[in-house]
Amino acid sequence: MSDQVKMTAMNYAIDRPKAENPVKVMDLTFRDGHQSLFATRGRTEDMIPVAEMMDEIGFWALETWGGATFDTMHRFLNEDPWERLRTLKRYVKKTPFSMLLRAQNLVGYRNYADDLSTAFVERAAENGMDIFRTFDALNDYRNFETVVKQIKKSGKHFQGCICYTLTEPRLGGEVYNLDYYVNKAKDLIAMGTDSICIKDMAGLIAPYDAYAIVKAIKAVTDIPVHLHSHFTSGMASMSLLKAIEAGVDIVDTCMTPYAFRTSHPAVEPLVMALLGTNRDTGFDIKKMAAINEVLEKEVMPKYKHLLDDSKLSIIDINVLLHQTPGGMLSNLVNQLREMDALDKIDQVYKELPRVRKELGQVPLVTPTSQIVGIQTVNNVLFDTPEERYKMITAQVKDLCFGLYGKTAVPIDPEVQKKALKGYSRGETPITCRPAEVLEPELEKAKKEVGDLAKDIDDVVLYGIYPVTGKKFLEWKYAVTPAPAEVKPITLEDVKKRDDLVAKAKAGKLVEPKAGAPDKSANVRTFNVFVDGEYFNVDVDPTGDFQPMVAAAPRPAAPAAAPKAAAAPAAAPKAAAAPAAAPKAAVAVEGGTPLVAPMPGMVVKNLVNVGDAVKAGDSIVVLEAMKMENNLTAPCDGTVKQLCCNSGDSVAKDTVLAVIG
Ligand code: CO
Repeated sequence: MSDQVKMTAMNYAIDRPKAENPVKVMDLTFRDGHQSLFATRGRTEDMIPVAEMMDEIGFWALETWGGATFDTMHRFLNEDPWERLRTLKRYVKKTPFSMLLRAQNLVGYRNYADDLSTAFVERAAENGMDIFRTFDALNDYRNFETVVKQIKKSGKHFQGCICYTLTEPRLGGEVYNLDYYVNKAKDLIAMGTDSICIKDMAGLIAPYDAYAIVKAIKAVTDIPVHLHSHFTSGMASMSLLKAIEAGVDIVDTCMTPYAFRTSHPAVEPLVMALLGTNRDTGFDIKKMAAINEVLEKEVMPKYKHLLDDSKLSIIDINVLLHQTPGGMLSNLVNQLREMDALDKIDQVYKELPRVRKELGQVPLVTPTSQIVGIQTVNNVLFDTPEERYKMITAQVKDLCFGLYGKTAVPIDPEVQKKALKGYSRGETPITCRPAEVLEPELEKAKKEVGDLAKDIDDVVLYGIYPVTGKKFLEWKYAVTPAPAEVKPITLEDVKKRDDLVAKAKAGKLVEPKAGAPDKSANVRTFNVFVDGEYFNVDVDPTGDFQPMVAAAPRPAAPAAAPKAAAAPAAAPKAAAAPAAAPKAAVAVEGGTPLVAPMPGMVVKNLVNVGDAVKAGDSIVVLEAMKMENNLTAPCDGTVKQLCCNSGDSVAKDTVLAVIG
């Protein structure tokens, strides 16, 4: 009897032999899964219903934390990130937890000082984290030193990542070739890594390249090798299988409802594909089906509106053409759309490889993907034929100074010189470990946040996110009420919404009733298509209905909220934020206005009313798409008015200051 027939005849629940070398699987549903598909909006209350069932599958680990979760939870969900860890730990007692740690960037977008970095890792370990998947956007492992010391001290698993990136269509070329990856693996081994992760954040790794890299690394070490890829380009399931053939020890997947698109391969087909082989996972597919049923019925309805269903295809070959990670691509599109400049997307695609090369051919992963992406948008929007890099973000200046570490190839000297002109830390770039030049910041944060922080976890949260962290702590301790858009929606809310849309489709909402109430700021517009006919339907929730900020229609639909009430620019899916009051019109007689060149959030004013300033002096720091821009005085004069405070969200063209 052939093997094939033997396997078909086998009742796998009874006869399934234990594999010689079962492949281990990490589940990403609770972190990268909803980060990739639903803009990281997954709430703890929606993980609890399946948490105990997930613990029974036999996963090597569950990824539950880190990456963008820390930011999104406190900023958009009014959830304490530390609390999620403690809560899930009460339900998941056997399976270790893994987090994505951006090395010295922690869970933020810049390098933090050693003292804050140490405190963060210590607190994460203390709150229940077991495996620290650590990466640096530049693959500069000097940025690992501080956090790794603490991971080891806390007795936890240090998983060192190699960010996978390309400059050619496939593995190879002058920079990112097989030698590069094997040498990086050797560097990680020298640092005492407990496992090695090939982190393919954009879904670029081709099956045969995955095979080659895994084989080559396995040839130099017995330390477990782990492959992380994204489905974005459509190759990831094939790449996992080839990596398994090459002997990879651990792979990353999601439960089916959270799989595919820009997320990850689904686990269930992999379990079936390996059934009865020497790499059989041993997982019970029926238990997984039960989990999926709960997710489908009780959880997914609350998130389906966040799914980018603008295209029918579930794969995006743009990532193969432009090598831009899925999240970065949608950020760029949203940024351009908010600037009414979506027609410039092709120019952005063209400029992107050029900017990337000039900035040292960096891998594109948070935060370098944002740094390169937003600088590219700035170049396309603000450069003139005579002058490139007219508006350089603070983060590009930091990169040019060496504050993120060493780039794969040197930064273009002309761009570097321009970026560092007048730079606060000096005009000569550093070559040491970046954190060497950073002042300690934990005590400073403690002092600044004062009594608002009740424990060290609050202080660390504030230290990493001073502006939004402070806002969150005010909600947490009821200093200010949390706005409606950060509250969760229920299945009843979803049903109400679906009923309204169904009525609209049936044509029952078309005739306005006499005495209809005025539309509120929460009104949301749906484009409804019925048999080729098109209806534009406004839906205005009433009573206790609490709309989520991201529940607003995608910007493609006409926004009903006032334009000035722009969402915080960091929202991966731009949406009108009903709670943000429109900025009052500012009288600018007798002065020249400084206006926001892009939508964003005011980080701080750098001057006071009455200060004398010169044209070109920095006046306001504006955060747009997580990048900070120093906005400068349009003329010489005195600061007559400062129109915004730290934390204010502003639309494009909002007057920020008046100089007269
Ligand atoms: Co990922």
